[in-house]
Amino acid sequence: MYRMGEAEIKEISRVIRSGNLFRIGSCLKEVDRFEREWASLVGTRYALCLSGGGTAGLICALVGLGIGPGDEVLVPGYTFMATALAVLAVGAIPVVVEIDETLTLDPEEIERKAGPNTRAVIPVHMVGRPANLSAIRTVCRKKKMKIIEDACQAVGGSYRGKRLGAWGEAGVFSFNYYKIISCGEGGAVVTDNRTVYERALVYHDGGASFRPYAGKLSVLPVAGLQLRASEIMGALLRVQRRRLDSILKALRQQKKRLEAGLKGYPGIRLAPCHDEAGDCGVVAAFQFDTEEQARRFASFPGVGGSLPIDSGKHVYTNWEPLLNQRAGPHPDLNPYFLPANQPLRRKLWPESCPRTLQILKKTVLVAINPYWTKRQLDAKIKACREAGKLV
Ligand SMILES: Cc1ncc(COP(=O)(O)O)c(C=O)c1O
Repeated sequence: MYRMGEAEIKEISRVIRSGNLFRIGSCLKEVDRFEREWASLVGTRYALCLSGGGTAGLICALVGLGIGPGDEVLVPGYTFMATALAVLAVGAIPVVVEIDETLTLDPEEIERKAGPNTRAVIPVHMVGRPANLSAIRTVCRKKKMKIIEDACQAVGGSYRGKRLGAWGEAGVFSFNYYKIISCGEGGAVVTDNRTVYERALVYHDGGASFRPYAGKLSVLPVAGLQLRASEIMGALLRVQRRRLDSILKALRQQKKRLEAGLKGYPGIRLAPCHDEAGDCGVVAAFQFDTEEQARRFASFPGVGGSLPIDSGKHVYTNWEPLLNQRAGPHPDLNPYFLPANQPLRRKLWPESCPRTLQILKKTVLVAINPYWTKRQLDAKIKACREAGKLV
């Protein structure tokens, strides 16, 4: 969350005073409006807002695509664990694959790792940086696999001028507290596909058998979860959406200035990016030849850097439910033991993606603050220059 203030308070107060907090039947239609506005911003036909966050968005996207037991889904070894857990939540098996030096899923890995049961791929636009969607789309078309974009950390970003989330069969966003825009907890799934949308809609609304819209659906109601967004969330997100482009502009400007101030300085090498203009500007990413160099740079006073290898559940070696094959609400519902999943590649080892671990050890991320004053930015540049000399 970067900006929140009086405008949000005013809107929330209006909703509370009206007494219309439940989206179904509300005369305010805050969630309905946000969904239309969000779909229009991303450039898709449908958007569904969810109280359950990006995790719920991923689950709804997978449900929407009919993915379940017997299916493998490729996920990168560097993403928040929720990406992989969502796959397990629908009874499918996540197959963890390597990233490239941009910190996003390596398209060549899709080519190498796709098997006869691989139905979908989840490229993740980590720390606001777009994955190589063009190459990923080419391989997925060839292999007849679906793409679900995880844009939870890259809300509003773009690739080749088109917003992230609009490139695959479905796109997913998180609006939790740490994201570019926020309502505390919440998320959204977008798609152009009517069936995917309807299936997600039904699933997120406990089956939706009695809802006013149920008669208009072409899919049969199935038992689902309760993931509906409230009108308070809708109102809050509508204000946050209006702030999005100015937040991105400020982040990108500060990042550009930081990088310009470091260009050509010894020891400093920026990590490659698949689309600089579409990058959200959440972090500046630097590369080093060794982990020791990376640690020296990151810990230099004033740099405030961190190594992605230290980011806990964002690294597959810390995904205990996958490593230990403990998933599902009951042992009989554990996807790893389901008969349909026995032919799949179920084993994840800490050594499964060595290149990913190497990249994460030799990269340093410096978080961008959209509110840096010129003095603060100059101090950051100076610290990075000094740190670069020690590398
Ligand atoms: C890449 C990624 N995917 C999925 C999620 C899950 O989102 P949420 O916490 O909103 O459920 C997150 C959240 O941090 C994330 O960073």
